[in-house]
Amino acid sequence: MTDNKHEAVSAHEAVYFIFGATGDLARRKLFPALYSLYREGKLGERFAIVGLARRPRTNEQFRDDVKASIEEFCRYKPKESEGWNAFVEHFTYQSLDTGNVEAFKQLKSHTEQLEAAYDIPGNRLFYLALAPELFGSVSRNLREGGMLESAGWHRLVIEKPFGYDYPSAERLNEEIRHVFREDEVFRIDHYLGKEMVQNIEVIRLSNAFFEPLWNNNHIANVQITLAETVGVEERGAYYNKSGALRDMVQNHMLQMLTMIAMEPPSRLDPEDIRDEKVKVLRSVRVMETAETISENIVRGQYSEGVSKGKELKGYRQEDSVDPASGTETFFAARLFVDNFRWAGVPFYVRTGKRLPVKSTEIVIEFKNVPNNVLFARKQDLQPNLLVIRVNPMEGIYIKFNAKKPGNDMTVQPVSMEFCQSCQVGLNTPEAYERLIFDAARGDHTYFTRWDELAVAWKLIDPIAAAWRQDPEGLQFYPAGSWGPEKSDALLDREGYFWWPVNGQEEDNVVWVTASK
Ligand code: BG6
Repeated sequence: MTDNKHEAVSAHEAVYFIFGATGDLARRKLFPALYSLYREGKLGERFAIVGLARRPRTNEQFRDDVKASIEEFCRYKPKESEGWNAFVEHFTYQSLDTGNVEAFKQLKSHTEQLEAAYDIPGNRLFYLALAPELFGSVSRNLREGGMLESAGWHRLVIEKPFGYDYPSAERLNEEIRHVFREDEVFRIDHYLGKEMVQNIEVIRLSNAFFEPLWNNNHIANVQITLAETVGVEERGAYYNKSGALRDMVQNHMLQMLTMIAMEPPSRLDPEDIRDEKVKVLRSVRVMETAETISENIVRGQYSEGVSKGKELKGYRQEDSVDPASGTETFFAARLFVDNFRWAGVPFYVRTGKRLPVKSTEIVIEFKNVPNNVLFARKQDLQPNLLVIRVNPMEGIYIKFNAKKPGNDMTVQPVSMEFCQSCQVGLNTPEAYERLIFDAARGDHTYFTRWDELAVAWKLIDPIAAAWRQDPEGLQFYPAGSWGPEKSDALLDREGYFWWPVNGQEEDNVVWVTASK
């Protein structure tokens, strides 16, 4: 049944509870992830999956939903010859009112039956694909309903947004911690489950030609771009309260920054790694005054525009969005990590909706060789770049200078590329597969610890507060463009510019093409 038998390390035998089982996340990500894990032998056979949501559904209807979701979103297709029927039998459904403790008591007896049937030793993983307002009451009712009384482990997996600001995140954390210990809580940031984000550590720490240069003596600046072509789609109501700052920066962008900037941990132990990440966040310069914030941060909102010949609505015209909304759909900033390794190196980060391409990339721009010696005396040399392509193209790209063939000593930039996504037959696991597997194994490395979150919010809150006082600071950009011009000015004043990302056309030349 397993396609990759050599990889088949089984997660612990457990019952997986999917709260919010009729929702979008379950359909698009969680069911497909569970099936992929099963196909690769990582779930074994001693497991059960219980779908929970308010709406009534029979087991058969639920299994049909699961099949439809896997057909549409999974990298493996449901095949009887690959044990589909055996897999889907592990799924049952219970309609559950999360506020009613009696329903949890019924869930307990259902769970005990499943544990007896599959010989599962009481391990229970609760995945809350729910609105965060419900995290506290669900945790409480799990305890009151006796769901935490089994012999095995109990783990809580929760999705962002984890709070709206530091005080609300702290309250939420307290509610959860009344029931679960920190080591039982797995806070998901799906960017940490991405192959190339996990690869950052390996690229840095296993190559003699990167780590020695990984500091302010050699690196001129770091650029992190997370560009999306989508707008807010059907998520207007959620997004309008969150904006790019809370939806992307507080979590995904800061997590990528920490992976780039952290010190090598003393051991590859989850807590040692997370300790190093917290240290980076503590070193990020807090921007507090309105002047510093407006000097270093740009916020924008898309207005009507055209992309690839298609007319696009402005953000304020999107469904469930206030027509006078001041929510930002674009964020760019110049950040500093004030420690010995990074002092003086700007970290430019930007993210936005309705940009021209979907691309997440990290560019490390190295300092130039001295200007007035040898080849640099005769011509302007381009800086060396290391580009980590995170999404959707995965790979690594290095740009350096070499001689142009011919009699003149002309120097030209050339590139070497490792295109991971181009490898034939490669079927890279999705972020959610890795993260569910890690949670089931009890590995916290790629989950955010409370102290990380707390520091991240403390960086974000003063920015949000300054913006509230300055509604005029919101800049508009046409959908399908690269955001407000002020975002280029952030780099321009230091003589830098945003390096084009994969797929971006510059002067009618595709700068970096995806090799196939
Ligand atoms: C989510 C955000 O966390 O990440 C979305 O809520 C965003 O707004 C998404 O679209 C981007 O993830 P990915 O993996 O598609 O880059």
